[in-house]
Amino acid sequence: MTIATISKKGNRRSGGPVEAVLSPDPGSLKRRELGQVFTPGPVADFMASMFEMLPREVDLLDAGAGYGALTEAVVRRLCRARPRPKRISVTAYEVDGGAIEALQATVGRCMQECVQTGIDFSANVLNEDFISAMAPLVRGDLFSSPPPRFNTAIVNPPYRKIRSDSANRQLLRSAGIETSNLYTGFVALIIKLLAKGGELVAITPRSFCNGPYFKPFRSIFLDTMSLRRLHVFESRSAAFAGDDVLQENVIVHAVKGEPRPDCIVISSSSGRPEDPVSRRDVDYREVVLHDDPEQFIHLLMEDRHTKARMVMEGLPATLADLGLTVSTGRVVDYRAASYLRQGPGHDTVPLIYPCHFNGGLVQWPKERSRKPNAIINDDRTLDLLVPAGVYVLVKRFTSKEERRRVVACLYDPERITSPLVGFENHLNYFHVQGHGMTMDLAKGLTAFLNSSVVDTYFRRFSGHTQVNATDLRSLRYPNRSTLERIGQILNSPEMSQEELDDVVRRAQ
Ligand SMILES: C[S@@+](CC[C@H](N)C(=O)[O-])C[C@H]1O[C@@H](n2cnc3c(N)ncnc32)[C@H](O)[C@@H]1O
Repeated sequence: MTIATISKKGNRRSGGPVEAVLSPDPGSLKRRELGQVFTPGPVADFMASMFEMLPREVDLLDAGAGYGALTEAVVRRLCRARPRPKRISVTAYEVDGGAIEALQATVGRCMQECVQTGIDFSANVLNEDFISAMAPLVRGDLFSSPPPRFNTAIVNPPYRKIRSDSANRQLLRSAGIETSNLYTGFVALIIKLLAKGGELVAITPRSFCNGPYFKPFRSIFLDTMSLRRLHVFESRSAAFAGDDVLQENVIVHAVKGEPRPDCIVISSSSGRPEDPVSRRDVDYREVVLHDDPEQFIHLLMEDRHTKARMVMEGLPATLADLGLTVSTGRVVDYRAASYLRQGPGHDTVPLIYPCHFNGGLVQWPKERSRKPNAIINDDRTLDLLVPAGVYVLVKRFTSKEERRRVVACLYDPERITSPLVGFENHLNYFHVQGHGMTMDLAKGLTAFLNSSVVDTYFRRFSGHTQVNATDLRSLRYPNRSTLERIGQILNSPEMSQEELDDVVRRAQ
């Protein structure tokens, strides 16, 4: 039975009692910077229960171990398994020196439990940066030792964007991993460290399932791993109550180098430990469509998702067929700060933010708004503005409270007299080669985007509150005449959701 702790300086202590290594404490580093969101015990136990074929000799990796909740859950499960494993070796990486003492205490408890159940136990607690330690080994530098191999990995990786010029990004790139977020960097690196047949259970944000930037990660993941199960937490906050978690989380279970299964289990629960888990077996080809170059992972959870998918994928038109384009608003407010004005003036034109959305129409100007209402109109801002016209706007971000993920509204130049208008970067706008469209088409498109079927379909592949222009581009749409018919029969943009859904359904 050994526990070794290696500090950032590389001093190794082993064999002795569990002892704190006081390496430089990055307590000054903010929690946010370290992506520290600790897994609650019931979620950790649930994750540990997902491993299928735990081996007799377990080499467990816990990267970004925090206080060790995940390792403890796996060891607890193994100690109760029949048959029990013969040996468990834990490798736990944690960069935060401030967490090491608690992590060691956890590993110490694991050791005691193994002693009581007759399992040979050893652990390496590494107070190191996982990426810096492992990327060079995975890369296979000439003089580096071969990377360690693990047959079991459990992880709740840190979530943080990584800039393309950052050291982490370059290290990952050198190991063949191209990604803009630390969490996918962690998981990709772990995948490379797994032995064939090794199992991974990871809790991560849902964004990798469809985000355009996660395409290279999806290729590594889906090409190397046999995806077996996806569990979705329906509430963004229940699983991590108390933590400021802004994204829905999924747990994935996958096995390295095994053939793709015919079916995968998609389960969901509220995230509260006492609530039930519902599960369905879903055809793999329904989850990852074989002809999809983006390799989106579709989280089909309920029948209404399947129905929404059938409706949406049966629609006849692409955006290009409609002669439309969707772009992200050109005015990035902090970059254009010196051109922005709180209220309209003789030298300004309207600037539209999501806060100007009001029940399907733009309400402008907004008094007592925290956002500026106007932007200077001169040569310096010309590129940021679009000519007056009828546009359909969609929020890029919705708040937790908002009922729908896709929120669209109509910009009507009859209501706001101005030759030009600025759309701020927190919204997307639909246009015809930079100009507006006909009123009927715009009204029909707004209603369609605000319908429940689009919302259900959208939620199916995106757990993020963000609605990217890429997502809107990849949707299918009713044809032009159907959208115009919807536009003509709409009574008012303030219709109830049921009335609006009914109009959209009847027009198809
Ligand atoms: C989301 S937390 C999860 C902690 C723990 N596994 C759990 O589930 O409770 C991620 C952990 O990774 C650690 N971390 C962040 N960047 C790291 C890095 N580059 N190398 C190792 N650990 C890192 C953070 O300090 C944090 O404790």
